[in-house]
Amino acid sequence: MEHNRLAEFPKDFLWGSASAAYQVEGAWDKDGKGPSVWDTFAKQEGTTFKGTNGDVAIDHYNRYKEDVRLMAEMGLKAYRFSVAWSRIYPKGKGEMNKNGLDFYNNLIDELIKNNIEPVLTLYHWDVPQALVDEYGGWESREIIDDFNNYCVTLYEEFGDRVKYWVTMNEQNIFVSHGYETGIHPPGVKDKKRMLNANHIANLANAKAIQSFRKHVPNGKIGPSFAYMPSYPFDSDPNNVMAFENAEEERSYWWMDVYVYGKYPTTIWNFYEREGIAPTIEEGDYELLSQAKPDFMGVNFYKSGTVEFNPLDGIGLGAMNFSGEKGTTAESGVPGLYKTKDNPYLDATNWDWEIDPEGLRIAMRRISSRYNLPILITENGLGEYDKLEANDVVNDDYRIEYINNHIKAIQEAITDGVNVIGYCTWAFSDVLSWLNGYQKRYGFVYVNRDEYDEKDLRRIKKKSYYWYKEVIKNNGPVE
Ligand code: NOJ
Repeated sequence: MEHNRLAEFPKDFLWGSASAAYQVEGAWDKDGKGPSVWDTFAKQEGTTFKGTNGDVAIDHYNRYKEDVRLMAEMGLKAYRFSVAWSRIYPKGKGEMNKNGLDFYNNLIDELIKNNIEPVLTLYHWDVPQALVDEYGGWESREIIDDFNNYCVTLYEEFGDRVKYWVTMNEQNIFVSHGYETGIHPPGVKDKKRMLNANHIANLANAKAIQSFRKHVPNGKIGPSFAYMPSYPFDSDPNNVMAFENAEEERSYWWMDVYVYGKYPTTIWNFYEREGIAPTIEEGDYELLSQAKPDFMGVNFYKSGTVEFNPLDGIGLGAMNFSGEKGTTAESGVPGLYKTKDNPYLDATNWDWEIDPEGLRIAMRRISSRYNLPILITENGLGEYDKLEANDVVNDDYRIEYINNHIKAIQEAITDGVNVIGYCTWAFSDVLSWLNGYQKRYGFVYVNRDEYDEKDLRRIKKKSYYWYKEVIKNNGPVE
């Protein structure tokens, strides 16, 4: 009998694509929406590439029907989008904005009408500015109830139609960049404050999951974590130790809390010795341990190689958004690890090492440590796409990138990993938080650049037609 080396993708596999409110909607102050922290941050000089902001973005707010039509024509099975908190509660709490609910109700209905499963992200980085002004956003425990109240509104309004929910998108990124590197709002550079804001976000995540159980008993909910699996630079035991440290500090520190309700010991002790461990109050661990998610959402873009870093070694590297190759400075945590280029991997134009095998490794690690189904909530390639004559975009590099990652998922399924879906980032080109429109990710090209909104027309790239075949084939297509 012929040996079938690879397992098939499950029949009901969610072949999807993703987006985020701030990056696509525009209409930043329309129909009652209040400003989010990104609406104000991006308007401060020097925060983003050429001063780009989300005022118009790709105008999805007005063009969502056209966008859903393109998804339907492709045969997309799932669309992951986020709700802008300040569209529902312009001040983060208090008076609700019915127009905001209408927009998402219409979007959800449009998706369902076209047989596309909605995957709703509750929080994709856009905390209402009013809550930052009032009590400092994620730095205050007051946000836990306000976030919960906002989530319950969405559960009650959309829970009859939306089955898959994501709580926090890349909590590790928004708190690290918001409070440690300072390149995202609110632009703070203080690790102690970062670890506290993270703890509060953990509590908010847990409370939102607890409420979900009451309001949407048949739904599925989980966080979506930016997982960058760590590798040791080589077999020098010092470097292997650095890898252990990095994996715990960059990954398990965050994910263990979601699943087991506690922080891993080694890094907790390290932070305690440094005097920066988060403040724990009575009842915190009880809440955290009673909010196990249904799946682990994984955003995967790259792996990260590390080596030994003595206590007086290198710290946070300089970051920039120039898009030039070779500009990512060495960085690390003295006493734990420092980053190294991986000599076996090529990198994108933004120096993100391309590593499909790393996705398989990531899935296996998560699966065995947490024993949860995995939903790949993001994966994709940011590139300088070129619009050629007759509205053609030949993005073969994107096809190759995504196909290799899909093959890696198939290997992971063969290994025994339970994966329920794969959302590419992104369905169409979207505004990059810091990089404007030079860095594009979509299957659909959007005709605009940093300054010039042009006609914002949608143009199918080569990868659009290719992903359509993948979905039809329920697996990779050469
Ligand atoms: C992760 C974020 O969730 C998304 O908003 C972002 O644009 C992509 N990564 C690409 O950097």
